[in-house]
Amino acid sequence: MYEQFPFGNVTSMQAETYRHVHEYSDNTELGQNHLHAMRGVTGPAISTANGSHYHCMRGLTSWWNDHYHTYCVNTSTAIPTDNGLHVHVYTGQTTFNMGHLHDYNKTTLAVAITAP
Ligand SMILES: [Fe+2]
Ligand SMILES: [Fe+2]
Repeated sequence: MYEQFPFGNVTSMQAETYRHVHEYSDNTELGQNHLHAMRGVTGPAISTANGSHYHCMRGLTSWWNDHYHTYCVNTSTAIPTDNGLHVHVYTGQTTFNMGHLHDYNKTTLAVAITAP
């Protein structure tokens, strides 16, 4: 999926693979009495058979007390919001580091586009 990400200028020939992304900015759940920030931008939209789409997310958490965690997860399909935008839920666990991991169950920021 990331292979389709256009790193240069988008041309009309590339437009079909130029899909929207979402920002996300939230915290993991508590683990061993601390949490980490998860911030970034999802991968581009990936179409599903039912006409919706989802996004891949991967990255590193913030640093706390000599460690961080990584994560790699697919979001839910698109969830329409009351104001005509859409969001995605992402649920999972970070990697196991320093004897623990962190759960997360959060929502991306919204974007206006409804097509992938
Ligand atoms: Fe989306
Ligand atoms: Fe941690």
